[in-house]
Amino acid sequence: MKHLLSIADISRLDAIKILDTAEELAKVSDTPMKKLPTLRGRTIVNLFAEDSTRTRISFEAAAKRLSADVINFSSKGSSLSKGESLKDTAQTLQAMGADAVIIRHGASGAPARLADCQWMSGAVINAGDGTHEHPSQALLDAFTIRRHLGQGREDLTGLRVGIVGDVLHSRVARSNVLLLTKLGAHVTLIAPPTLLPVGVESWPVSVSYDFDSVLESLDVVMMLRVQLERMQELFFPNAREYSRYFGLNSARLRTLHSDAIVMHPGPMNRGLEITADSADSARSVILEQVSNGVSVRMAILYLLLAGDTSIEAGN
Ligand code: NCD
Repeated sequence: MKHLLSIADISRLDAIKILDTAEELAKVSDTPMKKLPTLRGRTIVNLFAEDSTRTRISFEAAAKRLSADVINFSSKGSSLSKGESLKDTAQTLQAMGADAVIIRHGASGAPARLADCQWMSGAVINAGDGTHEHPSQALLDAFTIRRHLGQGREDLTGLRVGIVGDVLHSRVARSNVLLLTKLGAHVTLIAPPTLLPVGVESWPVSVSYDFDSVLESLDVVMMLRVQLERMQELFFPNAREYSRYFGLNSARLRTLHSDAIVMHPGPMNRGLEITADSADSARSVILEQVSNGVSVRMAILYLLLAGDTSIEAGN
C-alpha cells in the first residue's frame, strides 16, 4: 500500500497489522529514548488546511519518534481543491523532497486528488477530509478498544459499539463504521434522524433514536462532537434538548455495564454532547486515545515508508 486515504481501501488483515505494529511501537514510547532511527533522512510534510490540534501534533510526534524531518505547512483557507492550485501545491511538495504528505482538508476527496496527481511522488496520508474519512482516528480508536476489551483477540469480534451524535457531519463516524465492522464489532448509530446521513440504511450498522434503550447493551460509548461549524441550518431544537436526549451524563454512565468504556475523538463540547464529569470519569479513555494516537500514527508511517510491502490494499 502506498497511501492511506480511506479505511475502505484496507483489508481486515492490513488493519490488524497496523494495530499489531502500533503495539510494538508503543513500547518505544515507554522507553526514556522514545526514538527509533527508522525514518532518518526522510521528509514528512504536515499539510493542514483545516483546524487541528491533536491530529497535527500527533503525526508530528509520530514522525519525530521515527527520526524523520517534519515540515509543518498550515495553510488555512488554501485552495487545494481547485485544479490549478493543487498542481502548485503538489509541485511545491515535490520540490521540497517530501517523502510523505499528511493532509487535512475541508474538501472531501482532496487527499485522493493529491495521491492521483502526477506532480508529486510521495505517500499521501489522509488526516481528515471534509465529512468523508479520518482513517488514522478510526485506527487509534480500534487500538484503544482492543487494548481495553480485546481479551487477547486480534480483532473486535462480538463487541458492541455505540457511536452517538452528529454522525451526519462526522468523518470519524464514517471511518469507524468501516473499520469496526471489518474487525467484527457490532455498531449502533445513536442520533436524532436529522443528524443521520441519507442512505444510512445501506450501512452495516443498527440505528437507534433512543440512547437510553441501548445503553445497557454497549461495551463502548463513542461520543461525537456536535460539529456546529458545519451546520448552516437547524438540526435540533436547542442545546438543552440535544443534551437531554443524546448527551452523556452521570445518570447514563451509571447505566453502563461495569467494563464499558467512554470515548470521544476530541475536541469536546463539554456540557453539550458530554458532561465534564463523564469526560473525566474512570470509564473515560479519552486521554488514552490521544497517547495511543502517536503509536498508531508511527505504525502507519513505518509501514508506508519503511519499505514494508506486506500491507496490501484490497482483499
Ligand atoms: C475529529 C476531526 O477533526 O475529524 N477530531 C480529531 O481529529 N481528533 C473530530 C471532530 O473534529 O469532531
